[in-house]
Amino acid sequence: MESTQFKNYLKKKYKSNKIFFDDYMHEALYSKFGFFNNEIVRSQKGGDFLTSPEVSEYFGKILNKWIKKNNIYLNITEFGSGTGSLIEQIDTENKFAVEISSTARKELSKKNIKNFAKLNDLSFKNSDLVFGNEVLDNIPCSVAVYKNNKWHEKIVSLDDVGLSYDFLEARKETLDWIEVNQLKGDENIDVEIQTNIDIFLENIIYKLSPKNFLFFDYGFEQKDRGKRKYRSLIRTYKDHHLSVDPILEPGYVDITYDINFSSVIRKLKNMGYESSLLLQRDFLINNGFDDYFDNLQNKLLLSEGMENLKINSQLSGLKALIDSNGLGGFYCLEAKKI
Ligand SMILES: C[S@@+](CC[C@H](N)C(=O)[O-])C[C@H]1O[C@@H](n2cnc3c(N)ncnc32)[C@H](O)[C@@H]1O
Repeated sequence: MESTQFKNYLKKKYKSNKIFFDDYMHEALYSKFGFFNNEIVRSQKGGDFLTSPEVSEYFGKILNKWIKKNNIYLNITEFGSGTGSLIEQIDTENKFAVEISSTARKELSKKNIKNFAKLNDLSFKNSDLVFGNEVLDNIPCSVAVYKNNKWHEKIVSLDDVGLSYDFLEARKETLDWIEVNQLKGDENIDVEIQTNIDIFLENIIYKLSPKNFLFFDYGFEQKDRGKRKYRSLIRTYKDHHLSVDPILEPGYVDITYDINFSSVIRKLKNMGYESSLLLQRDFLINNGFDDYFDNLQNKLLLSEGMENLKINSQLSGLKALIDSNGLGGFYCLEAKKI
């Protein structure tokens, strides 16, 4: 894609040369020029990043155990299913995938997983569970920057030469989000504003009023934000590696950020949900990780040749899921309707 084409598309659609970051991120990921609407599904081995269900099928098997343990049956719905590697492990016919990317939806259809482009396409009204793995971090954020005792927004400017950053006065919804989340201005820290995650949750609750939510993602609690050494928590990925600044190769890189889970928990609380936040590692260990691990280890001892190689690879995948420096260090947010 020619970046001029993308620039002209933005100019025409927004009738402006100044685009708020969340709009920019939305277009760079989900428009016809977007990263998730290209020919390959991004969250798989040949794609740009590897997620827990792509690393090991046991992630889904353990989730399936958790679902059974919690007597969850009705209209189990996943948001942002990618290739379907997680939802395919859920042992029920009564499951649905909502996936914004048409490329990913084709993969879901190939696996006979009922899939929809958006929430409003679902025909049912209630659900026992809404879940998602690494979907929140792909919901476009805006960026607030505190300077000269005032909040501004970092925006994308469409210039003759290309794309660059600029600043505008912060919008009301951004200021409201900052206030609700009781954030103090710090000139050294950019704030990823998650108003679109709040809207995403609100819409799901209005339509499905799920009894439970379960989200896995990378992120932090607000009290720990100061411990992170980066000014901005937004980054891009391409070919399994960290990549360029988000405005340099729109459409060719994934744009993502660390989730402020304290804010998600606050939003869910305001909407009548009680949350608990734990590490992915602990969620998996609490829900049968060791049984799968011991079983594979025993099988390994009795196997030889190709079978031995296969089990070894399954064991490495399983171990990667709980690695505290990697996927195991992700968060798992469980929320129940009160
Ligand atoms: C990082 S991928 C994760 C895919 C999969 N869950 C996995 O773990 O392999 C994020 C996916 O979420 C989808 N997505 C982002 N926002 C969405 C939304 N609001 N509704 C449905 N899908 C969404 C993207 O198209 C993308 O396929």
